[in-house]
Amino acid sequence: MNNTGATNETILTQESGGVLFATFNRPDKKNALTHDMYARLAELLRQADATPGVRAVCFRGAGGAFTSGNDLMDFLSGPPMDENSPVLQFIHGLIDFRKPLVAAVTGPAIGIGTTMLLHCDLVYASPKAFLQMPFTRLALCPEAASSFLLPRVIGLTRASELLLLGNGIDARTAHAWGLVTAILPEDSFDAELEQRLAALAALPPEAVRAAKALIRQPLINGAHDAVRREAELFAGRLSSAEAAEAMQAFLERRPPDFSRFE
Ligand code: COA
Repeated sequence: MNNTGATNETILTQESGGVLFATFNRPDKKNALTHDMYARLAELLRQADATPGVRAVCFRGAGGAFTSGNDLMDFLSGPPMDENSPVLQFIHGLIDFRKPLVAAVTGPAIGIGTTMLLHCDLVYASPKAFLQMPFTRLALCPEAASSFLLPRVIGLTRASELLLLGNGIDARTAHAWGLVTAILPEDSFDAELEQRLAALAALPPEAVRAAKALIRQPLINGAHDAVRREAELFAGRLSSAEAAEAMQAFLERRPPDFSRFE
């Protein structure tokens, strides 16, 4: 699992010091995630979990953004939302991953860009990080077990504000609310991240996996169940007239108008 990503790949992979870096690489689309990218990520998690030399996986984005979330064009083309769909395979893979998951967020992390952080054990952000889950604004609903995990991480009131209103939060708020482990300075971000990852990779791997299992085990069944509940609703939302208006508005770069809906 050394460097397997050509630079034109949408998911770049690079292994360094026992850490497998997975870089979302569609900078012209702010690293929006497509079906194909989810499929690669799901496979990457399967392989990384089974590869002894990989001590941790670190997600990051190319060109500044972490990810602008699900590709809105993919939403428009009516993707399948069953248990075998790449996105659900990826999310279930995150929940079941036994080794530490790390995220390096140096810009916008929208939609699944934020909800996947709930499955990461360590989240490092630069001051430019921006987290948002604009599901209701797109006439969609929470996903990736965020309806289950977010209230547990930041509290019911704050979770309701973020998931109902779709408001975004900056790095400082995300850190204060416990969504981000630490904010690392912009100019030394990579070096400080590397230091932390090296410390993580140097720990005894079985002990680290045991600690992670103890922390996450009580949440695993609840998270899988939430993903299924959310996916069922999400699929219906995607084909709704409200969502059609929201997506069309994004394409036309205009504010959506939901006034005709009851
Ligand atoms: N899916 C598809 N394309 C996307 C995208 C997404 N989720 N997010 C951004 N893009 C595209 C834009 O359409 C634009 O494409 P174009 O250059 O061909 O017009 C390009 O990426 C750059 O986006 P832009 O909005 O100009 O960049 P920005 O720096 O002003 O803002 C974001 C960045 C991420 C804050 C903003 O693009 C955004 O909010 N995107 C939508 C996020 C979203 O709703 N995701 C789904 C969550 S469920």
